[in-house]
Amino acid sequence: MIDRATVERIKEAANIVEVVSEFVTLRKSGANYKGLCPFHNEKTPSFFVSPSRGTCHCFGCGKGGNAVTFIMEHEQMTYPEALRWLANKYHIEIAERELTDEERREQSERESMFIVNEWAKDYFQDVLKNQQEGQSIGLQYFRSRGIRDDIIAKFQLGYDLSDRHALAKTATKQGYKEEFLIKTGICYRNDRGELIDRYAGRVIFPWFGVSGKVIGFGGRVLDTRTKGVNQKYVNSPESEIYKKDHELYGLFQAKRAIAKEDCVYMVEGYTDVIAMHQCGIENVVANSGTALSIHQIQALRRFTSNIILLYDGDAAGIHAAMRGTDMLLAEGMQLRVLLFPDGDDPDSFARKHTATEFRQFIAENQTDFIQFKTDLLLKDEHDPAKRAEGINSIVSSIAVVQNPILRDTYLHDCAQRVGINQATLVNQMNRIIRENRSRNTAQTAVPEPQTVQPIPESKQPQALSATNKESKVEQLLAQMIVRHGGEVIHRQIEVEEGKLMDLTVAQTIHLSLSLDHLELQNPIYKKILDEAVALSEQGPFDAEQHFLHHQSVEISRVAATLSVDKYQMLVLRKQPKEENENEEVKRRKAEEYLTKLKNETQHLVLDFHQEALEIQLKELQKKIAANAQNPEMLKPLMEEFRQLHQLRQNVAKKLGSGIIS
Ligand code: CTP
Ligand code: MN
Repeated sequence: MIDRATVERIKEAANIVEVVSEFVTLRKSGANYKGLCPFHNEKTPSFFVSPSRGTCHCFGCGKGGNAVTFIMEHEQMTYPEALRWLANKYHIEIAERELTDEERREQSERESMFIVNEWAKDYFQDVLKNQQEGQSIGLQYFRSRGIRDDIIAKFQLGYDLSDRHALAKTATKQGYKEEFLIKTGICYRNDRGELIDRYAGRVIFPWFGVSGKVIGFGGRVLDTRTKGVNQKYVNSPESEIYKKDHELYGLFQAKRAIAKEDCVYMVEGYTDVIAMHQCGIENVVANSGTALSIHQIQALRRFTSNIILLYDGDAAGIHAAMRGTDMLLAEGMQLRVLLFPDGDDPDSFARKHTATEFRQFIAENQTDFIQFKTDLLLKDEHDPAKRAEGINSIVSSIAVVQNPILRDTYLHDCAQRVGINQATLVNQMNRIIRENRSRNTAQTAVPEPQTVQPIPESKQPQALSATNKESKVEQLLAQMIVRHGGEVIHRQIEVEEGKLMDLTVAQTIHLSLSLDHLELQNPIYKKILDEAVALSEQGPFDAEQHFLHHQSVEISRVAATLSVDKYQMLVLRKQPKEENENEEVKRRKAEEYLTKLKNETQHLVLDFHQEALEIQLKELQKKIAANAQNPEMLKPLMEEFRQLHQLRQNVAKKLGSGIIS
């Protein structure tokens, strides 16, 4: 815990120009500085830094903030991590909260383990680069696999001498304690009590935690020695700092690219990650041959909710691609799949093709996961029993999806592909949801979605009933807030007498709703709107990033489902950021985008209003019917009805005219 006073000191010390300059080349431009935006690809600078305000902002993609938020965004760090980063830069000592003895012991033990790991990583690199055995065997091996030196350096690959005592000797001579060599698993003690080096004679792949600390190692035997050695890879044993099912290989090197591309490629092994970097694809991690765990999914979710599985197209690869997918779907991830031609994995495929071919292949051959599964299980399957089994498996996957809109879309798509009535699938899905629920719910990490009423395909619902709290319009409004809530759509609007304000999407929605005495019904959506409005006071901000990485799991989960791009009902995309366009075209596009955003926002608010009026009218009609014999009561009710009716007419007119001011 960092105490308040220190936080203040860090914020005061942080100079935005200095901080940004660590990552971006800045040039003076009037009172400000400008450079190429680090958050999106561009050729002309639109990233501005204001020393007087202590902020930065990109006029191309809208990202930016103060020194702390810049570091959070750029380095993909949490708030405390960013503070520590800045404290380190400005040599500010962090006064930590007093720890208990137990905490202190644990912390210093973890620290010691990190220190030993860091040392060992450097040792392995040194052996690879500077010692004769390292060069002739280790380096030679990497080179024979076509791994370039810059990639070796990027992943800090190394080699461990074949002398099984060498590392321990060097380490103890330099004062590193046996205790931590053993706790990290770098060494173990044999029957005779000697300290033995776990990775002797292997090339080394260090594992980095998400913030860059060395948490463990993987060591691969050399091909020449594969015979007689039963384990191709030896990995660090589980420890206080290395829990294999919490970590993803390559995440540290990939996190910035994952956030930037808003998607991540999932591959199987070390060499696949490395091969892809070598082809220029950096948003890639490996799950190292194990099924994905909930921890790994959560680690990724900090950066994106789009995941693309890349596997070998043989039976084992397909099996691997299927594993853990229901959990990904349940966690609100958008899944796509790409299988390489039989027998190839990303590593071997990359070696047979140029980088351009590789990237093109990846771009062109992805399929949506549900489609993939449908085709895989049903395309050439004519045996009725097997088909039924396949359909059941697909519907089970769809059943775990939380977002009802997305689930509907999947069911619809599946029904069409398979040629089955959608209502049948809905029934089956509801059965599965009920079964899942009645099974032991305590131990499932997957929250259970609500069942839905089967809807005959011919009769899609038009208006929503008065009791329907989860209205679609409301959902779309919430989606708008999560995706675009922080973007300014109205400039200098007089909100109170003499008070001019720029209004973000969130503020506009809030203002329109409150003028009509309306409120969002879903408490989470309401929270999201309120927070977006509060944040808007400080100026434009990236709502999607904010809510996706929200500290409340509930909010970030809802945001993840709402922010899903592919299935959104709006045709609105994020502001385009194409290159090579002249200023005029850019300006026109920006203007078109703004108009669309404005109209879409107002349209949704009006839709919402109309829906609310519809509900009120229905209730009023019921009251009128109930009071049919009571003229005294009837009169004011009729008057109210007339007024509401008029209001609805006005709203409908506005909606219908398409002219929205
Ligand atoms: N793996 C492991 N232990 C093993 C075998 C595999 O930890 N005994 C993990 C490694 O992370 C490995 C991944 O599973 O990278 C995939 O295994 P495999 O495809 O066999 O290894 P590759 O990375 O492809 O290595 P290579 O190309 O050198 O055979
Ligand atoms: Mn492999």
